[in-house]
Amino acid sequence: MADYELQTIAPAEARPLRRALLHQLLPTAAVDYQSDHDPESLHIGAFKDGALVGVASVHPQAMPNSPEPAAWRIRDIAVERGHRGRGVGAWLLERCLEHASTRSGSVIWCTTRVAAYGFFERMGFSRAGPPIEDPDEGPQYTVYAEVPPLERSWRLA
Ligand SMILES: CC(C)(COP(=O)(O)OP(=O)(O)OC[C@H]1O[C@@H](n2cnc3c(N)ncnc32)[C@H](O)[C@@H]1OP(=O)(O)O)[C@@H](O)C(=O)NCCC(=O)NCCS
Repeated sequence: MADYELQTIAPAEARPLRRALLHQLLPTAAVDYQSDHDPESLHIGAFKDGALVGVASVHPQAMPNSPEPAAWRIRDIAVERGHRGRGVGAWLLERCLEHASTRSGSVIWCTTRVAAYGFFERMGFSRAGPPIEDPDEGPQYTVYAEVPPLERSWRLA
């Protein structure tokens, strides 16, 4: 991971990659989320040689069908194809967890397409029920994990 660097970015910087890697069929305005304007949200970019190659956002939001009051949602974690399989996604996810942990989050969740479910499973997330059909994106799983105290490793060995 020495070649990569994580930096906080503005939500506007995340939008082109969100669209290119996750929401090609949606107009640019559709990836300007209301949560982007939440002052508690964090947007992280992974950079290689100054170029943005991965993004992730996280913000407080209740998890569907869960009474958990301190829930945080990861939105649009994505890594450019040529940079996948090198730990960048895991690093971005770790940074999201850290952000939720420093703000006393207790659970973190996300919706994911079936193809990326294995990534979250590998990262220690569980599935909350069967997939839900999204008219634009196809079947989507809701996945979640406990937010560990900062000093504890959350990733499966
Ligand atoms: C999902 C995604 C962010 C993973 O990024 P990545 O940088 O390739 O992930 P990493 O290299 O950090 O992988 C971490 C671990 O997860 C595993 N993994 C990654 N993607 C996986 C997948 N689709 N299925 C199963 N395991 C996967 C890796 O093998 C690695 O395991 P290891 O620790 O045993 O080596 C990337 O594939 C992506 O951008 N996908 C398209 C966007 C998307 O669907 N995002 C999720 C929904 S918002």
